[in-house]
Amino acid sequence: MLAFERLGIRFGGNQAVQDVTGSLTPGKITAIIGPNGAGKTTFFNMLSGFYKPTSGVITLSGQPISGRPTHEVVARGVARTFQTTTLYKNLSALENAVLGHRVRTKAGLLDALLRSGRERHDESESLKAAHHALERVGLERKAHVTASLLSQEEQKRVSIASALATQPSILLLDEPAGGLNPEETARLMDLIRQLVGAGLTVALIEHKMNLVMGLADQVMVLHHGQLIAQGPPAEVSRNPAVITAYLGSHGGGGQHGQSAPAGGASV
Ligand SMILES: Nc1ncnc2c1ncn2[C@@H]1O[C@H](COP(=O)(O)OP(=O)(O)O)[C@@H](O)[C@H]1O
Ligand SMILES: [Mg+2]
Repeated sequence: MLAFERLGIRFGGNQAVQDVTGSLTPGKITAIIGPNGAGKTTFFNMLSGFYKPTSGVITLSGQPISGRPTHEVVARGVARTFQTTTLYKNLSALENAVLGHRVRTKAGLLDALLRSGRERHDESESLKAAHHALERVGLERKAHVTASLLSQEEQKRVSIASALATQPSILLLDEPAGGLNPEETARLMDLIRQLVGAGLTVALIEHKMNLVMGLADQVMVLHHGQLIAQGPPAEVSRNPAVITAYLGSHGGGGQHGQSAPAGGASV
């Protein structure tokens, strides 16, 4: 499945991610946690083809994919959502999901125009995939509602549907619960469990550790771009290096008022 070895990226003098080695367990949930600025989104940007790593390799079923363009990574079954919701607010849920499919699977607008002979076929394919994706996130009955009229939680579901419309086997979610209240968050976590129950492999970024305790099978902790711990949530939350990283950071969980699991890191 998806594996990475000594993965790193440098921006000028800033080594944003360094030497990250591991893999996503197929059919399971891997959570990537760490204080703000730890390199979590940058890590996803490399896995999904948005950034080209400056060191290390990413493989998908043994095949190297590092530095391949996004649409190619998507075509191989890896889809992602973004930390800030990127919906087209004036379009319906369905249109957003259709666009999610089209934007992610095309090299660019020019490519779409050049291949106009296939556009009609593509259109019905996108539509079918979008309908099915909305069903999977429980929003089929709101397919024709304008995105701006949907609740925050529903908008998050549309973002997930946009990614699911590309029919991925691996889904990368960047802070899917960001901006949601605890009830909405719980429902979204249920959705993620459901998707994994149906066979999807999920990696999700979250900076509150308590949210991933009951959800993730595996946790990876990034701190200053480095992987400082990796393992089952209960084990990781007791890891002294993890506790120190969170307590010593100003972007971490403490100031956001999350409660820690008993005996675990206050993150
Ligand atoms: N395109 C970029 N150019 C320069 N620096 C970047 C770029 N993308 C990310 N970074 C740097 O990478 C580091 C990690 O950021 P990020 O991955 O967004 O953290 P997180 O998602 O864990 O909060 C930060 O220091 C950020 O400034
Ligand atoms: Mg981020």
